[in-house]
Amino acid sequence: MRVLGIETSCDETAAAVLVETGVDARPWEVVSSVVASQAEIHREWGGVVPELASRQHVRDICGVMEKALADAKVTLDDIGAIAVTQGPGLVGSLLVGVSFAKSLAWARGLPVIPVHHLAGHIESLTLAHGELPLPAAVLVVSGGHTSLYLVSTPGEYRLIARTRDDAAGEAYDKVAKLLGLGYPGGPIIDRLARQGDDRAIRFPSTRLTHPDRNAPGDTSGGLLPPEVARKIDFSFSGLKTAVLRFGRDAQAAGEPLSDEFVADVAAGFQRVVVEALVDRTFEAARWLNARSVGIAGGVSANSRLRAEAEARGAKYGIPVFVPPLWLSTDNAAMIAAAGLRRFRAGTPSDWAFNAEASLRL
Ligand code: KG4
Ligand code: ZN
Repeated sequence: MRVLGIETSCDETAAAVLVETGVDARPWEVVSSVVASQAEIHREWGGVVPELASRQHVRDICGVMEKALADAKVTLDDIGAIAVTQGPGLVGSLLVGVSFAKSLAWARGLPVIPVHHLAGHIESLTLAHGELPLPAAVLVVSGGHTSLYLVSTPGEYRLIARTRDDAAGEAYDKVAKLLGLGYPGGPIIDRLARQGDDRAIRFPSTRLTHPDRNAPGDTSGGLLPPEVARKIDFSFSGLKTAVLRFGRDAQAAGEPLSDEFVADVAAGFQRVVVEALVDRTFEAARWLNARSVGIAGGVSANSRLRAEAEARGAKYGIPVFVPPLWLSTDNAAMIAAAGLRRFRAGTPSDWAFNAEASLRL
């Protein structure tokens, strides 16, 4: 069967065609994947403007779907089901994809499968590498999310830890904005950090250890010992504020923000983010006896994160999987994959669902 995937949760309008291979170890193949990025539109504002994003999705969605079908050399007659991102994300953006997918499916008499965006990111790993050795500890780290899942059975995702405030990618984007570097900030900071001294400035790393701090201590539902579960959540807003203060102090002191200074800030910031992500992911993975570690989402493109995760994996004998760039940032192939997984697991077509900004997985 061929599945059409639709993704509009943030600022990318995407459609893709996926085909089943019949091979258990590598169940699907991407036939086409089209992504219309709105980065140019939002760059001017230093971040995604929700209203502009939804309007642009409306303009782009038909053409993006048509191109996905044309690239795959198929027509709608060859499609057996439609998968669409239901949430989480910007509700106006999500609504465009959900309404489009439902209308199309209804008109063509096809099943429509709602997909959680993070299930899509997790399945991008299966698309790229085939089924991972299970159980797998999978970190989804993007502009909107920083969540760690345990996958023990294909298609079952158990939340182990998540950020209590900013997502890692969001911290990258905000730090880049305050350094005047442009949007999205992740790739720019990644590049600049290579020229900087990561020890020149010591930014703080946050560990949420107090049991009464804001959210419930144990997200893992008893999978981790309480003393580990309590400190495994992520937090990046304190780091972001520290970088902001540091930058302001430097400006107030009359020091020009030299290229060298900016590179050192980028390197120091990146070191703290990557250490937090790698330390906690592997700490959880070892407690959970994970046979593999996966890192998905836009920030998985980060060169230091990849290198350090691979080094840590080698040290502990746990293989590390990261998707190629085109599957790590938002795309519809991963949504089609997660949808196909649900469909084959017997999830019936559902017409009652709606876009949900804060959908839980
Ligand atoms: O998965 P994604 O395309 O969208 C969301 O679902 O959020 O992730 C986008 C995020 C942005 O915050 C961007 O700055 C970040 O991924 N990003 C990176 C890198 N490339 C993209 N962050 C750090 N290093 C990179 N090389
Ligand atoms: Zn995403």
